[in-house]
Amino acid sequence: MAALLEVRDLVAGYGSNQVLHGVSYDVAEGEVVTMVGLNGAGKSVSLRCVAGILRPWSGTVHLAGADITRLSPEARVHRGVATVPQGRGIFPHLTVEQNLRMGGYVLPRQVYARRAAEVLERFPRVKERLAQRAGTMSGGEQAMLAVARALISKPRILLLDEPSAGLAPAVAKNMFELFRELKAEGATILLIEQNVGLALHLADRAILMQKGAIVREASPASLGDRTALLEQLGAGALYHEESPKKAARPAATAARRKLGTGTRKPPAKATA
Ligand SMILES: Nc1ncnc2c1ncn2[C@@H]1O[C@H](COP(=O)(O)OP(=O)(O)O)[C@@H](O)[C@H]1O
Ligand SMILES: [Mg+2]
Repeated sequence: MAALLEVRDLVAGYGSNQVLHGVSYDVAEGEVVTMVGLNGAGKSVSLRCVAGILRPWSGTVHLAGADITRLSPEARVHRGVATVPQGRGIFPHLTVEQNLRMGGYVLPRQVYARRAAEVLERFPRVKERLAQRAGTMSGGEQAMLAVARALISKPRILLLDEPSAGLAPAVAKNMFELFRELKAEGATILLIEQNVGLALHLADRAILMQKGAIVREASPASLGDRTALLEQLGAGALYHEESPKKAARPAATAARRKLGTGTRKPPAKATA
């Protein structure tokens, strides 16, 4: 059977700057795939092509066998693609509730209300703060809000772009506990994560992106020995499990500085 998500030969970039040079990968239903690679490798660009925020120059994206390459981000949310963008895409001046609503704007009001109630069961800290301005929440709470918002549409696949970036280790761990629960319930997840240690604990499979191409893929079997896998991935330099804050943060910040961008535009922002 075909994979739930099939990405084929994606070529994409900005202006005349080609970033992706023919990227192909699959994510099967119920699978957690983590994409790792150095800053600037093209991970986020690849994810944006799947979310519909960026149109690839060529190549295709299929979801459950249907070609979604040319669909808008909203249409993809409808089909079951939900995203936590890099930088989270929280609107700080809106309330927590209004931020949540963004994840369910494609839903009829009553369906939204039901889904929100369901999702909030998992996020007590978010639930307590619905009327508060999102910008006044802690980084960890905002991170959870971004995940809650993505879950509102009951996605068939969840795209997570560095969800633990900037979080204290304990908070990042909590977040990954939640991902583990989602996985146990059958969720399909494509995870970009600087904290390779955390990512590999969770993932069924890892793919390494380098300079806009997938250069290696680790089989589920090799996940047994994380040290060997990290060597295989050549991602030793990315291994910051013990101190994700100290190690991963400056790298991410430097990359953003290099790009001249702050937080990236989330899908909700692009379509709100
Ligand atoms: N918004 C943008 N505008 C112009 N170029 C961009 C933009 N986002 C990314 N790029 C280019 O794409 C390359 C890959 O970026 P990205 O996918 O964000 O890397 P990462 O693997 O760290 O997520 C960057 O080095 C940059 O040259
Ligand atoms: Mg990125």
